[in-house]
Amino acid sequence: MKPVYEDLVGRVVVITGGGQGIGRAYALAFAASGAIPVVADINLRAAADTVRDIEAAGGRALAVETDVTSAPSVDAMVAKTLAEFGRLDVLINNAGLYAKNVPPATDEIKRPFDQIPLEEWDRFLRINVTSAFLCSRAAVATMRKAQWGRIINTSSTTVMMGLQGYLHYVTSKAAIIGMTRALARELGKDGITVNTIMPGLTHTEVPNPAAVPDKVIPMQCIPRKEVPEDLVPAVLFLASEGSRFMTGQTVNVDGGSVHV
Ligand SMILES: NC(=O)c1ccc[n+]([C@@H]2O[C@H](COP(=O)([O-])OP(=O)(O)OC[C@H]3O[C@@H](n4cnc5c(N)ncnc54)[C@H](O)[C@@H]3O)[C@@H](O)[C@H]2O)c1
Repeated sequence: MKPVYEDLVGRVVVITGGGQGIGRAYALAFAASGAIPVVADINLRAAADTVRDIEAAGGRALAVETDVTSAPSVDAMVAKTLAEFGRLDVLINNAGLYAKNVPPATDEIKRPFDQIPLEEWDRFLRINVTSAFLCSRAAVATMRKAQWGRIINTSSTTVMMGLQGYLHYVTSKAAIIGMTRALARELGKDGITVNTIMPGLTHTEVPNPAAVPDKVIPMQCIPRKEVPEDLVPAVLFLASEGSRFMTGQTVNVDGGSVHV
């Protein structure tokens, strides 16, 4: 894709979970737009692969092993970003847990809510919600100093559907919408916008054991599989100057399966 937003050139963009899937597609697209992605992932090898591909295409990027559920790890990632580039303009809170093979491995997690172990509930809330709090908290000082920043959180259309069998996941992704609205109110005066991207069922290079595309595609207005590149233009826009008067919003990109 050709660069669309020239103001993204030179912007430093932290992408959590940028080692694979949707986050990897974001990293490649920001680099192609002249931005500098910081690929913050618990899987360093995957993050390094993303960076290698960006560098092979002539871009600049940094891989940082990060556990987004750990405050010291997140703080160290932001410190490393600032030491390397002296700025952090955009934070994309993308890392998340669903049913895919994230360490430690998660098998099929669909189950009635009263059979969800508390440990599993806590893990979903920590990886999907607490992570966004920790990363936003760590990134905000430098954004405030610059009086410019973009925080982009990640929800899911499962919130609008009330998808059955994944109470922890759906609850965590609903919490992100509330966090986005409340944080937007706190940060608007500092030139920092906070928005949420809401992907539908998105087919990445990683098989999703919980995906049921045959049921989802007929619900969409545009009846085909969603891929990460479908989310990229909306995220570039939310990171750009073009979205300067949009904040606290949920941007749904799902081929029209639900209407926000
Ligand atoms: N793929 C979909 O169908 C879909 C639909 C709606 C929303 N989403 C959301 O989009 C985001 C990306 O989804 P995806 O399909 O690309 O996911 P994915 O599982 O393919 O990738 C997630 C990435 O996050 C990293 N990660 C996991 N735990 C981490 C931690 N503690 N610290 C740092 N990194 C960690 C993983 O190593 C991996 O690289 C997630 O928040 C997900 O919930 C995905």
